[in-house]
Amino acid sequence: AWSMENFIEEEVEKVRNIVGDQKVLCALSGGVDSSVVAALIHKAIGDQLVCMFVDHGLLREGEADSVMKTFGESFNMNLIKIDAKDRFLSKLEGVSDPEQKRKIIGNEFIYVFDEEAAKLEGINYLAQGTLYTDIIESGTDTAQTIKSHHNVGGLPEDMQFELIEPLNALFKDEVRKVGTELGLPDEIVWRQPFPGPGLGIRVLGEVTEEKLKIVRESDFILREEIKKAGLDRDIWQYFTALPNMRSVGVMGDARTYDYTVGIRAVTSIDGMTSDWARIPWDVLEKISTRIVNEVDHVNRIVYDITSKPPSTIEWE
Ligand code: XMP
Repeated sequence: AWSMENFIEEEVEKVRNIVGDQKVLCALSGGVDSSVVAALIHKAIGDQLVCMFVDHGLLREGEADSVMKTFGESFNMNLIKIDAKDRFLSKLEGVSDPEQKRKIIGNEFIYVFDEEAAKLEGINYLAQGTLYTDIIESGTDTAQTIKSHHNVGGLPEDMQFELIEPLNALFKDEVRKVGTELGLPDEIVWRQPFPGPGLGIRVLGEVTEEKLKIVRESDFILREEIKKAGLDRDIWQYFTALPNMRSVGVMGDARTYDYTVGIRAVTSIDGMTSDWARIPWDVLEKISTRIVNEVDHVNRIVYDITSKPPSTIEWE
C-alpha cells in the first residue's frame, strides 16, 4: 500500500542509486512542488544538491525573501539566487497575447537557467517538481493541451541533463503530505499553487512595472485578509488579477479614471475543475475597501463568480 513514509524512503533510495556521488541541480521557485522536490533530494544527497532560484520579477510580494530564508538559512542548502527581473520585463515589452507571454517567460526562464547552469561544473542531473496533473494538462499524456505549462518538457535538446522527477505520479494533496513529512514549514507546504509565469499572466495584456505593482499590492492585501478570516486552507487559490481596463469613479468631489482589480478565489481538488469560493460578504467588503484605499490607481473591485469549466482559474 502507498504510504508517505514508504514513498519518501523509496524515492530517497532511488535518487541515491541514480545519482551516486554526482551533483543534482534543482530550479527552486518557492512553490510547493519544487520545494518538496528540493527537500526530498536534499534528504537523499545533502550538499550534492545545488538549488537555483531565478527571480523573474513576476513573483508575489515577499516571495523571494521567503525562499532565501527557508532554503538558504533554515535548510542551509546550496542556494544560488539569480536576479533576472530586467531581462524578463524587457522581453515582455509590447506583448499582450497570453500564450505568447507564457512562451516568452518559459523560454527566457530556460535561457537564464541554461546560462547560469553552464557556469556550474560537473552537474549531470536536473530535478523538477512535475506533478501528475502537469503532465495531463500539457497533453504529454492523452488529454488535449489546454494551456502550455512551461515546466513540462521545455528543455532544449542540447541541455546536458538527465531529468529527475520524483513527484510525477502524485497529486497536489499527496505532495503536501510528503512536504510535511520532510519537515517543511506550513507556510510552504500550504502555499497555494502559483503558476510558473507568475504575475505575468495576472496582469492581463501588456505587462508593465506599474501594473505589476498594483497586482502585487492588491494581492498582498487579499492574502492578508483571507488568512485573518481563517479561510486560507479552505480556498484552493485566491489572488488578484488586473484586467486591462480602467473605469470612472469619484473621490471627494473629483472624477477618477483608474484601474479595476479582479478578485479570483476558487475551491478545487486538483485544479482541473473549480468552483468560486463563497467568501463571506463582510470579508469581501473589507478586502475591497482596503485595496481601493491602499493601492494607488485602483477605483473598482470585481469578484469573479465563474466556475471552471467554462472559465479557467487564471484569467489568462
Ligand atoms: P487554469 O488557469 O488552467 O489553471 O485553470 C489550472 C492550474 O494551473 C495553474 N497554471 C499554471 N501553472 N504554468 C504553471 O506552472 C502555467 O502556465 C500555468 N497556467 C495555469 C493555475 O494557477 C492553476 O493552479
